[in-house]
Amino acid sequence: MHAVDPEGRRRVVAVQAGDRRIWVKRPERLTLRLRLQKGSSDKSFAREAVALHELSGRGLPVAELVAATPGLLAVADCGEPLRTILRDPARPADERARAARAGGAALAALHGAGVAHGRPDLRDICWDGSRATLIDFERYTPGPASVALMRTDLVIMVFAAVVALGPDAPELAALCAGYRRAAPPEPWQAAARLARGLARVAPLLRLLAPLDGKRGEIAAVAPTLRVLIDPPADGATDGSADGTADRLADPPPDASGNPRSGCAGAPAAITKP
Ligand SMILES: Nc1ncnc2c1ncn2[C@@H]1O[C@H](COP(=O)(O)OP(=O)(O)O)[C@@H](O)[C@H]1O
Ligand SMILES: [Mg+2]
Repeated sequence: MHAVDPEGRRRVVAVQAGDRRIWVKRPERLTLRLRLQKGSSDKSFAREAVALHELSGRGLPVAELVAATPGLLAVADCGEPLRTILRDPARPADERARAARAGGAALAALHGAGVAHGRPDLRDICWDGSRATLIDFERYTPGPASVALMRTDLVIMVFAAVVALGPDAPELAALCAGYRRAAPPEPWQAAARLARGLARVAPLLRLLAPLDGKRGEIAAVAPTLRVLIDPPADGATDGSADGTADRLADPPPDASGNPRSGCAGAPAAITKP
């Protein structure tokens, strides 16, 4: 499913250029109401071009920018979005798990370099059979990212995965493990702290259940918090899951109840919120 503008034109389309598949994207044409809600689409469009240019120049797993003008972005094909792959029963389970681990690791690579994506939905993480790549940087904030921004990325990715796959899916466990194995520990620790705080009020969400639409987003909140507090074990058969949980566990609180310096050993690229 691709976004369409108010006239019903597809805003993002794939075109074949010789033997290359290229995705061509135009700025969103927003109605006044959406413009007020979402801000200028021209700005976020320009932000995406700058992000792709800068981040691929740093060797990070982002889509290759082929061309950019104020009205058009052309981006190399990165395969299929995880949201499609991880829900495809026709694919072998181990292939789905591999894609999920690689997707988690791709976001981890960004975070390790001190970069936040802005909204890593499962539609914005692609897998081409050997490499996972992030696309759609319209919500990227330039400059070194705070732990809070990376925490937001993580909460968005895990929430999207719980909505799309369900809390018990092995692909969700693989996605989390792929992230945790390769990421600096601070964003997950911060997300787990946030989730522990929110878990206290989560029972109130039952009151909102009648408002839950077809996508089941309200029902996904409590399972998302549980995954962030107690990440599911990855069924990796290659031994790569070993030790992840211990290494990334939140440090025990000190006598004052504050977590012990969770940021010791943080990569220099990470800035505090
Ligand atoms: N480089 C790409 N490689 C593969 N698929 C892509 C690529 N760019 C866009 N797509 C497809 O088009 C969809 C929408 O593109 P995206 O850049 O995420 O725009 P939007 O702002 O509408 O979410 C993606 O979810 C994906 O399915
Ligand atoms: Mg998108």
